[in-house]
Amino acid sequence: MTDTTTAPATGASAKPAEKPARPYFSSGPCAKPPGWDASKLATDSLGRSHRSKLGKERLKRAIDLTREVLKVPDTHRIGIVPASDTGAVEMAMWSMLGPKPVTCMAWESFGAGWVTDAVKQLRIDPEVIEADYGDLPDLTRVSPDHDVIFTWNGTTSGVRVPNGDWIADDRTGLTFADATSAVFAVDMPWDKLDVTTFSWQKVMGGEGGHGILILGPRAVERLESYTPDRPLPKIFRMTKGGKLNEGIFEGSTINTPSMLAVEDYIFALEWAQSIGGLDALVARSEANAAALGRIVADRDWLDHLAADPAVRSTTSVCLKLVTDADGDTQGKLVKKMVSLLEAEDAAYDIASYRDAPPGLRIWCGATVDTADIEALGPWLDWAWAQAKSA
Ligand SMILES: Cc1ncc(COP(=O)(O)O)c(C=O)c1O
Repeated sequence: MTDTTTAPATGASAKPAEKPARPYFSSGPCAKPPGWDASKLATDSLGRSHRSKLGKERLKRAIDLTREVLKVPDTHRIGIVPASDTGAVEMAMWSMLGPKPVTCMAWESFGAGWVTDAVKQLRIDPEVIEADYGDLPDLTRVSPDHDVIFTWNGTTSGVRVPNGDWIADDRTGLTFADATSAVFAVDMPWDKLDVTTFSWQKVMGGEGGHGILILGPRAVERLESYTPDRPLPKIFRMTKGGKLNEGIFEGSTINTPSMLAVEDYIFALEWAQSIGGLDALVARSEANAAALGRIVADRDWLDHLAADPAVRSTTSVCLKLVTDADGDTQGKLVKKMVSLLEAEDAAYDIASYRDAPPGLRIWCGATVDTADIEALGPWLDWAWAQAKSA
């Protein structure tokens, strides 16, 4: 009998020699931009009023750079708002929903959260169009005369809408896109988007805490022509005397922002510009997703949760184990793999979201380097071999 305790490990069970240089694969907060260091952030605005000349200038710079990098047309306003992406989505929902029938589309946890808001909190009796984890609902079912709320990229299932072609140019309803894990990785069709939201900690690797709300002209028209019959907390209020509070979209935030988070976001945006702007960011995400796709294709124990490549995310890539093991056992295998990889500093935070089917979720956004995704492949084999034999 062979003495396996002293035999050197070979093949998939051997510990790989090379580790990803930056093992940050979390789907939010996501990896910092390459070369980021806290000491590189501008700090002149810290310890100052955010309403000082300098404070307002820095907030405006964050807005202007957002416009430049994302190619947001002048028709759309960009505001920095409280409470991250959730704050941006909810202030839009609470302020604008009511005058039109509403459709909510959900195919994973965050979209389902907006359904709960609409059904149980706002009680506006929306039409709900849903699909299971891994699938996209039938987008052609959306009426152009309804307001529609959807996540552009479902971060917890790795399924995204393929484009905006399903949104009618002559719609009378408003589109509300929670695009937090899509912007900066996708060239967004701004003319199709009336309300777009995101936070800084996703594709740009910024900090949580603040949301960005982008309003097209039709959304502004809604805000100025419709007063909802419900209480609106101060941090949701975007109008004054029936007119849009333009200050919000020029850097006069509703309440106090973290200027450190603002400076960190500016750093990320300047990095984006330095590498070639949106096209370069999109190319980096796509290269990362393609590298991960090659890893998946080479392994019979791993597959994409999203079967259709046309709707597969290039940021939050969700993978499933191909095994006969039941769901509980798969959950345990994933837990084991993830803790082994973290202990080795080979990959951080790659378990699927708590409400999603058990699996791995590997962030492929622009701040991740493709070489690190490539270096991850052998580590996944190692962790899988260890977890199975545990
Ligand atoms: C699609 C989507 N919507 C909303 C959120 C919540 O974002 P935040 O924590 O910035 O409010 C997330 C976070 O991962 C998300 O992925």
